[in-house]
Amino acid sequence: MELKDKIRSIPDYPEKGVMFRDITTLLKDADALTEAVGQMQKKLVGQEFDLILGPESRGFIFGMPIAYNLKKGFIPIRKKGKLPAEVVSKEYSLEYGKAVIEMHKDAVQPGQKVVIVDDLLATGGTAKAIVDMVESIGAEVVSLNFLIELDFLNGREVLNGYNVNTVINY
Ligand code: PRP
Ligand code: ADE
Repeated sequence: MELKDKIRSIPDYPEKGVMFRDITTLLKDADALTEAVGQMQKKLVGQEFDLILGPESRGFIFGMPIAYNLKKGFIPIRKKGKLPAEVVSKEYSLEYGKAVIEMHKDAVQPGQKVVIVDDLLATGGTAKAIVDMVESIGAEVVSLNFLIELDFLNGREVLNGYNVNTVINY
């Protein structure tokens, strides 16, 4: 199956000039969903880690089934103001705007090894913000794993030196 054929492209969303890669058409197709989660999960085989971190909201969609399948804990990274306990925060820029993400300070312990899972790597702003929060706690990012990579936005350069895995490239 060609997974790329299951992704819908919407021009000028959410703003002019952005080609939005819409995964909802992939998610509703049972075979495509199984294949996408399976291919992302395969990239984690052989890696040693304690936890999977996924950013709200599309990072939850892929991070959770992989964590469940691999019997790892899942840490939700959330947009500002959603987490009830003490947080670490990071402001970041993404392809279309600016935001703040947060994680619970006690979600990851110093010395633990984590992997990051999200649907899409664009500028790398979101991913780098998570890396910075994890490292500020004294934990280690083993790899970053995405279903989709937008090559022309050079997110990999922002993540230079890290193990970055992607399945579908544009
Ligand atoms: C999207 C996507 C990634 C991020 C990628 O999330 O799911 O997390 O943008 O862009 P970047 O590499 O330039 O940072 P968004 O913030 O739109 O939130 P959503 O998952 O709730 O739609
Ligand atoms: N997140 C950042 N850029 C995106 C794009 N072009 N399509 C879907 N999600 C995105």
